[in-house]
Order: sequence, then C-alpha cells, then structure tokens
Amino acid sequence: MTTDTEEEKDGQKKGRTSPYIPNLAEFYFRPNFDWTRKQAERRFAKTKSPSPEFELDTVRFEDCIEGMRRFPAESIDLVIADPPFGIDFDGKSGVYNRDERLVIEGYEETDESYHEFTSKWLVELPRIMKPEASAYVFSGWTNLDAVLEGARDAGLVTLNHLIWHYPFGVYTRKRFVTSHYHIVLLVKDSRKYFFNKIENYPEDVWSVKRRYRTGLSKNATKLPLEVVSRCIDFSSRPGDIVLDPFMGNGTTAVAALLNFRHFIGFEINKRLRPLLDKELANLVTGESYIPYSERLPTIKDLAKLYPKAYREYIRREKET
Ligand SMILES: C[S@@+](CC[C@H](N)C(=O)[O-])C[C@H]1O[C@@H](n2cnc3c(N)ncnc32)[C@H](O)[C@@H]1O
Repeated sequence: MTTDTEEEKDGQKKGRTSPYIPNLAEFYFRPNFDWTRKQAERRFAKTKSPSPEFELDTVRFEDCIEGMRRFPAESIDLVIADPPFGIDFDGKSGVYNRDERLVIEGYEETDESYHEFTSKWLVELPRIMKPEASAYVFSGWTNLDAVLEGARDAGLVTLNHLIWHYPFGVYTRKRFVTSHYHIVLLVKDSRKYFFNKIENYPEDVWSVKRRYRTGLSKNATKLPLEVVSRCIDFSSRPGDIVLDPFMGNGTTAVAALLNFRHFIGFEINKRLRPLLDKELANLVTGESYIPYSERLPTIKDLAKLYPKAYREYIRREKET
C-alpha cells in the first residue's frame, strides 16, 4: 500500500485537475458478494454431487484425464490445477533444502512431451466447467508456453496472468534465482465468469512465503494454503465444487473445506493416500471462513493509514 504522501506526489506528477482524493475509494469499498457464516454453511450443506460416481470431498486415486472424461458436463465451479513440472525434478535434490527421507516416493513426472500432456488434460476442462467457472493453473516459467498454448487450443480464455512471488529460490551461480511461479487464470466464458472482487485493489502479483513443514512427511511439492485460498475466495461461492486434478498433498481439499467449499480431486500416486487421509481427518469444515466484509481494514485502520482521505470521508458522510 502506498501512503497519502506518495500518492499525492503521483497525482501531482500526472497533473490532475479534478479533486482526486487518493485512497478515498478504500473507505467505500465493499465486496461484490458476501455471505454470513450461517449463509455459507447452508449453501455448503445444500450442494449435491454431480454424479454418484464422484462423491463430494473425496480424492480418486487414478489418472485425472481418464477421470475427467467420465465427469458430467457443466458440473464444476472452479478448477485449481498444479500439474507435475515435466522437468527433471524428483523433489529430493539437496538444492531444494528438504530432508529427502520425508518426501514420499512416486511423484509422477510425465513420459510424453509436456506439451502433449498439458493439452490432453486442459482439453477436458471446458466440457466439465460450468459457464461461470474459472480455472487457476500453476506453472513454472519453463513450462508456461505449454499451458498458454494448451489453454488456447482448448478454447479457454486467459483472463489474468498472476505471479506468485516467494522469497526463496534455488541457489544459483550464474543466473538469477527463480523465486516466482505463474498462475494462469482461465475462464470458459468471458461474459459469464464469476469473480468476487473482495479487495479494492487486487494486484496480480501475490507475495506469499513457501512454508516447509519441517519433520512432517510430504509429497515433493506443496502450495501454501494462502495462495490456494485466494483463488477460492475470488472465484467461487460457498457451497461450490472445486476440482483439483493433481491433488498432491491435498492443499486444495483443505482450503476448500476450511472455506465451506466442496472439492473433488484426482491423484495418480496411491502412496499419497495415508498422507491425504491424515490431512483431512482433523479438519473442521468452515473453520477459516470469515465473511469478506469482515476481512477488510476497519475505518479506524484506514484513518491511520490515510488521514487526508479520512477527513474527506468524514466530511462526505456528514453531508449525506
Ligand atoms: C505439483 S504436485 C501437486 C501439489 C499440490 N498442489 C499440493 O499443494 O500438495 C502434482 C501432483 O500430480 C500428481 N499427478 C501427476 N500426473 C497425474 C495424473 N495424470 N493424474 C492425477 N494426478 C497426477 C503427482 O503424483 C503429484 O502428486
């Protein structure tokens, strides 16, 4: 966030003539959609599985491409996909600074070309997505072209290209340290997609630390809950069904249930079953759910940050 003084200078530089009050909009901002805990809980309870074969809130241990082909049409509200890298990565190399005894064997890399694999699973999405649905696809920069091409060929529209910046990377000698991930936000229908603007100024760079759970066994890669929860918050409603074709450690499952969303997941590595069961065993559904308006900074917080805008806000409030 910029301060009043920084914004003021910026405004002057641009030679504004209208009385633009920096940060005033923050005081009036409300999310597009909001639900109380009770409403969210009720929506969650009402959701039915789209097919008896795909029980809600379960992981199917099979190839996601095969599984998605059997999915009913237009049954998914949101897709969160963090596919295997398709590069020579087994999650065990010392450079990743992890205790390799704790990394579960069987992280599946793909044999076919990464482009082929990516196109094959992406092409399954539009049929099973509802018209309002979105898909967040995680990708390292080395495979980004496969995702962008695959998405375009599948007929999905790229809405945003997000960067997840994590202040940690693999040590390098003669090149920059990679400390970001790409998240491509795709929609099925650019006129109908659902987007809940829960922040006044939601930027496309998300800075979130990777968290290593030292001493706990884990799949080779794991996304932070915060990153996955942001995708869920902006692009789904409570009670919606979130599909994760590459479940891994189950971050999407956890984020979904904690926020009153359902999930359906695929994971090809059966050895992950005990880990996934454990992740979900003690989870309290809806535990992290907070109505969006309650997550915003209070007027008191904003007043401290932007005193000038606050004075104008009070003046306008008195006028009305
Ligand atoms: C990058 S990891 C996902 C990590 C996950 N997002 C998390 O936070 O724990 C990719 C996962 O996809 C699985 N996988 C690879 N190919 C698959 C396929 N065809 N169908 C289902 N799962 C697959 C791998 O075994 C691996 O666990």
